[in-house]
Amino acid sequence: MTLTGTQGEDRSNYTREESRAIRQRSLRLLGSLISPLRARIALAAVVLVVSTALQVAGPILIGVAIDKALPVLLEQNDWMPALVVSGVYLLAGATAAALIGWYVVVAARITQAVLLDLRKRIFLHTQRLSLEFHESYTSGRIISRQTSDLDSIRELLDGGLNNLVSGVLFGIFTFIALMVADWQSGMILLVAGIPLAFLMRWFYKRSQLVYRESRVISAKVIVQFVETMTGIRAVKSFRKEPRNDETFQKLAGDYRDVNRRSMVLFGTFEPGLMAVAALTTTFVVLWGGIRVSTGALGVGVLLSAVLYVRNFFAPMQEIAMFLNSYQSATAALEKVSGVLEEVPTVPDPAKPVDLWESRGGIRFDEVTFGYNGEKTILPNFSLDIPAGQTIALVGTTGAGKSTLAKLVSRFYDPTKGKVTLDGVDLRMLHPKDLRRAIVMVTQEAYLFSGTVADNIALGKPDATLDEIRAAARAVGADEFIESLPDGYATDVNKRGGRVSAGQRQLISFARAFLADPAVLILDEATASLDIPSERLIQDALQTLLADRTAIIIAHRLSTVAIADRVLVMEHGRIIEDDTPAALIGGTGKFAQLHAAWQETLV
Ligand SMILES: Nc1ncnc2c1ncn2[C@@H]1O[C@H](COP(=O)(O)OP(=O)(O)O)[C@@H](O)[C@H]1O
Ligand SMILES: [Mg+2]
Repeated sequence: MTLTGTQGEDRSNYTREESRAIRQRSLRLLGSLISPLRARIALAAVVLVVSTALQVAGPILIGVAIDKALPVLLEQNDWMPALVVSGVYLLAGATAAALIGWYVVVAARITQAVLLDLRKRIFLHTQRLSLEFHESYTSGRIISRQTSDLDSIRELLDGGLNNLVSGVLFGIFTFIALMVADWQSGMILLVAGIPLAFLMRWFYKRSQLVYRESRVISAKVIVQFVETMTGIRAVKSFRKEPRNDETFQKLAGDYRDVNRRSMVLFGTFEPGLMAVAALTTTFVVLWGGIRVSTGALGVGVLLSAVLYVRNFFAPMQEIAMFLNSYQSATAALEKVSGVLEEVPTVPDPAKPVDLWESRGGIRFDEVTFGYNGEKTILPNFSLDIPAGQTIALVGTTGAGKSTLAKLVSRFYDPTKGKVTLDGVDLRMLHPKDLRRAIVMVTQEAYLFSGTVADNIALGKPDATLDEIRAAARAVGADEFIESLPDGYATDVNKRGGRVSAGQRQLISFARAFLADPAVLILDEATASLDIPSERLIQDALQTLLADRTAIIIAHRLSTVAIADRVLVMEHGRIIEDDTPAALIGGTGKFAQLHAAWQETLV
């Protein structure tokens, strides 16, 4: 398991080794995102360098105009030099502007290409990851990978990185130009670089702390919100609102406080920056003024020096801002790369075994299993279910019935031993063959947006409407579907398309029957049905289970009647295994359960 699987995301908990691994993981991801775009990035770099150089030429041209062209114009009334300099200035400005425009477009294309790639990768990969991952990775966290993390990365690429690269390039070019125009002013700027560096460093350190804190709190705010709203039924039934209000207000208040602190940080940084800039300009003007008065320096050169110094400080604020977007983006990149490097714990086979026609024989071969390799749920479990048999699996809550079902559906792999279908290890089956052969219906009957017919057709995407109707009829769902506003074409998310939990289960039955698997597992799939509906289903079940292997986990013992064989499970072991009649007539656990159940009926 990689680092993000189950652990928290606060990086401060990690050892140095782990931090390094995380950094390398982020860089790997970044590299893989950028490498297909190398050519475009090189183009953007060239365009940016040329346009910055042209921009930086401005002040020098102004200096030349004042010192060289203006005297010629005043003394000889010769317009030529002034026109030439103005022309060059205009040309440089226009070219720089055009190139900047081009650069913006190229850079935006690069950003969007990276984001598109990343967005697709996150979706495809998270969808492919095994159930084990999804059971431990909360929905709030997985949502932020696709939303706020991508936003942070976009902000970095769109704004931050652009600002940094163009700001630093501009600063370097400006400094070089200043050294060329007037090296003594350049030296003054160099000295000013010392307090500037301290200021930037201070800001970087402090903002790093504040921003990390802010991210942690903002994640908590989101998690609190998502959890409350996804669990809204439980919240309302247990009157948890007041407590939630309190927690949320506290979190939101903390979030405000930390943001306020970050503003104070800016409130200190910006005046500091202005002070350094003003002092530097003052010294350049003073020292330049003295030299102009002695004739050692032209006024024009002094003017260009002053312009350079002023320009030099202009992008500093943006560079500092970059540091912030950089920090949240690296954090986002770390988390995203964590998800992307998570490997499915139930991997597809490298060389799958073909199984076109499955008969449906299931075997557990000395299977040992525990979730996350921890506490053993199934200890050395063996079971043979011949093809075509209908099994009723009963036992107390927590006995391991659903675990057994999840192993048959290969949502998990055994820690030891193997589960086979027609003698083939499930791990060797192509996922397509596996999903066609084995279908599990659970209590949670999820409906996707779309029509009722679409939802049934999930089990067989190319099914005709007649097939869909036949499947619905077989499970006794057609009556209520026909009574919906648009029948089979009713949108399940629209008003009038809202169906009850029991009706959802009927739809998911129709879905499973349409899929026509060799092995069908029903894990308490009738729990939301009322007794008449369940009886209806049972009649349907009898015919539909006739020619396939079935494992029915039922909490109502009435279902057991249609089974060929009953398995009673306790603490991950089968303690009784016989025909329903034999078990009922016996003296074991099942006989007791059955007697107790009979009593509740009279
Ligand atoms: N996703 C999971 N992660 C860790 N433990 C689990 C998970 N699902 C079930 N368990 C544990 O496995 C045991 C068997 O659970 P389960 O198979 O769901 O029982 P049943 O379906 O018979 O009620 C229980 O002790 C339960 O706590
Ligand atoms: Mg269960």
